[in-house]
Amino acid sequence: MPIIYQQISELRAALQPYRGQRNDKPDSAQRIALVPTMGNLHEGHLELVSIAKQHADIVVVSIFVNPTQFGEGEDFESYPRTLDEDVAKLATVGTDYVFAPSIAEMYPVMPPPTSVLAGGITTQLCGQSRPGHFDGVGIVVSKLFNIVQPGVTVFGQKDYQQLAIIKQLVRDLSYPIEIVGAPIVRAADGLALSSRNQYLSAAERETAPVLHAELQRLAQQLMSNKLSMPEFEALLAETSQRISNAGFNIDYLEVKTDALKSVINDAEVFNVENENLIILVAAWLGRARLLDNQVVTVH
Ligand code: PAJ
Repeated sequence: MPIIYQQISELRAALQPYRGQRNDKPDSAQRIALVPTMGNLHEGHLELVSIAKQHADIVVVSIFVNPTQFGEGEDFESYPRTLDEDVAKLATVGTDYVFAPSIAEMYPVMPPPTSVLAGGITTQLCGQSRPGHFDGVGIVVSKLFNIVQPGVTVFGQKDYQQLAIIKQLVRDLSYPIEIVGAPIVRAADGLALSSRNQYLSAAERETAPVLHAELQRLAQQLMSNKLSMPEFEALLAETSQRISNAGFNIDYLEVKTDALKSVINDAEVFNVENENLIILVAAWLGRARLLDNQVVTVH
């Protein structure tokens, strides 16, 4: 079973021996991996841990439902908290330490008067419908990096924008941390696994895979055609319509370069030959806001 710590000081003390700074044992350093989560773990999270184990000797998983990344009226209170089950699952994939702090431990002053992100990619896509969300992600992940001081960290590509923002944070704040992006883990019918899928009714759960299917369909069409801008926009509109007709309420459906730059520009012709593209969607189905994305392989 992993050892669970709630206090920053205790976790730091436990990790100290792995850092290889003892004069009598200079070569004893072991690589530490950090996998940040909000708990209520599923196969997608466990896959991140398995990947982390391939990159490090010691794996630390944090479980913290971070209040600063939830907006007013969002599901902070109802977000599922299942620490005992989570720890049992983490034991099956060889987790060494779980860090499960209280809010007071993480935020001596609440809300924290410090922020680490500014503008840019934090205000588009999910940042547009969830203002302040990525500020909360930025501060909590920075704190976790400073607490654990890992050599490597693993984030899922399911939250594509989050992963892009973490890469930016590590680059701009010079964190000496390797970032590994993990592929999206899906249910057999294609729905991306998410802790929020349990908000779906049985009927909604049957509808939910439509989102992935429509992204795949659009990706095929973008891949196989050289499109004019109006053709591209018509395809996007048609996909939106099909997703809405299935019962979703679309928050956004956008096609970006894989660096999350716009593809619309002033370009007269939408040329998919030069850029790698990504289709990103957020859509409500009942009480659940589902996120998904699909890379368009461009040759
Ligand atoms: P959470 O939603 O718990 O996700 C934790 C990690 O698991 C993220 O890196 C996310 O991308 C990854 N993940 C979730 N579902 C996945 C799936 N189906 N396939 C692959 N990876 C998946 O993301 C957060 O928590 C928080 O914002 C956090 C980074 C912990 C900061 O509070």
